[in-house]
Amino acid sequence: MTRQIASVIGGKNEPTGSPYTSTNPARPSEAVAAVPLADAATFARACRDAAEAQKEWSRVPAPVRGRVIASVGRLVEANTEALARLVTEEIGKPYAEALGEVREIVDTCDFFLGEGRRLYGQTVPSEMPDKNLFTFRVPVGVAAVITAGNFPVAVPSWYLVPALLCGNAVVWKPAEYAAASAHALYRLFAAAGLPDGVLNIVFADGAATYEGLELALSEGTVQKVGFTGSTAVGRSVGELCGRHLQSPCLELGGKNPMVVMPDAELDLAVEGALFSGFGTAGQRCTSLGTVIVHRDVHDAFVRAYVQAVQAAKIGDPNGDVLYGPLLDRKFAERYEEYLTWIEPHHTVLPGPTGRMEGEGLYYHPVIVDGVRPDDRLFLEETFGPIVGVTTFDTIDEAIALANRPGYGLSSSIYTTDPKAAFRFREGVSAGMVSVNNSTSGAEAHLPFGGNGKSGNGSRQSGVWVLDQFTRWQAMNWDYSGRLQKAQMDVADITPDLAFRL
Ligand code: UN1
Repeated sequence: MTRQIASVIGGKNEPTGSPYTSTNPARPSEAVAAVPLADAATFARACRDAAEAQKEWSRVPAPVRGRVIASVGRLVEANTEALARLVTEEIGKPYAEALGEVREIVDTCDFFLGEGRRLYGQTVPSEMPDKNLFTFRVPVGVAAVITAGNFPVAVPSWYLVPALLCGNAVVWKPAEYAAASAHALYRLFAAAGLPDGVLNIVFADGAATYEGLELALSEGTVQKVGFTGSTAVGRSVGELCGRHLQSPCLELGGKNPMVVMPDAELDLAVEGALFSGFGTAGQRCTSLGTVIVHRDVHDAFVRAYVQAVQAAKIGDPNGDVLYGPLLDRKFAERYEEYLTWIEPHHTVLPGPTGRMEGEGLYYHPVIVDGVRPDDRLFLEETFGPIVGVTTFDTIDEAIALANRPGYGLSSSIYTTDPKAAFRFREGVSAGMVSVNNSTSGAEAHLPFGGNGKSGNGSRQSGVWVLDQFTRWQAMNWDYSGRLQKAQMDVADITPDLAFRL
């Protein structure tokens, strides 16, 4: 069923733009939604409207904004099945995972509805009498949020929920290939009673978005950019923001390592490698990149991993499958390019690579054994169902291999030795470390984010994201009735520093 949807700016539909159709990757001939893509000027106009609406929204008391977030959570929960079905239809995510994705929005709302009654500032003692010091969290203004389509509703909620709760307005540019899912989430936010213009959704392609953002930044209508996507695009968004003295919230790619120590419970490690390597067809930013397995257990691990992959079901995402199709044609094409990085010194398991027979964008799972530290497959993110395997002898070598690609989002170690777990945590450059758990599946209230090529150190989720969407304002109030000069008019208590026992 083709839905006709459109951008919504200031509460009004924007019916004009160049036509785009999002399709069902399980049956690419089937349209899911038709949507006009806006131009740069429209994006910039949305930012102006948002800036206007933000003034009133920031004056709504934070606990009341928290109640709006509570309503979003209830609405999302009450619409779980419909939203999850739509996600499955539009990007081919298995239904069970789509339900998990919707749950992640509810979890995020549950966390932040109470934050409306905290948003704590501080009272701080002054160095002078009759003077008080305070800190306040102040909303940044307008957040322009640009998101990917592999988590078309959960990851956007990591931005939208705290941004709105903190008193900001948002212009959200979702991935066009996940337009219907994004539009559905927008409607749930709107149904919670957000005033027009506080949340705007703009469908646009990458070039128009960049240009629109550039315009908005020069007009001074955007104070924070949130971007989830590739390292290459993140770099240019970061450069653009830097020119405007802004520090964006960047959530970029990963080449997430999993270290398997000789003392690991191998079955557990295999289960983790199966889920994080091939769940979501390997299309999470937290998906497993390379298994770094100790030489002594390499053969046993690979044997069991191949068996597990062979036993897994791949197919209709409405069924009980490990994974469904790739997100969209664009991703399938890119994935086919990654397959060309396989070299003669690699051992390709279980065997076939590439697209499966039939209409859907289904691809064979690929394990590439024998990857070397200088291989492209080892160094670069390969969004899709492909996992590399390499070996190590010492934990220091394992840590060096884990850090070598220069990303730093998620990482994992399987071991029964606490020393190894803590050595790994200390040495790995990733923002997230799992012990005896896979690289993907972060909980919604821990800091989420990466270092190096995975981001600029910004963190989403939990209390940590508040620093993205608020700025600290320091206030001092002198009620002494005279000018007390800091550092100068301070009482001096003289110690006897020559004193000894
Ligand atoms: C992403 O792929 O952009 O930790 C986010 C996870 C999920 C989120 C992934 N909770 O795997």
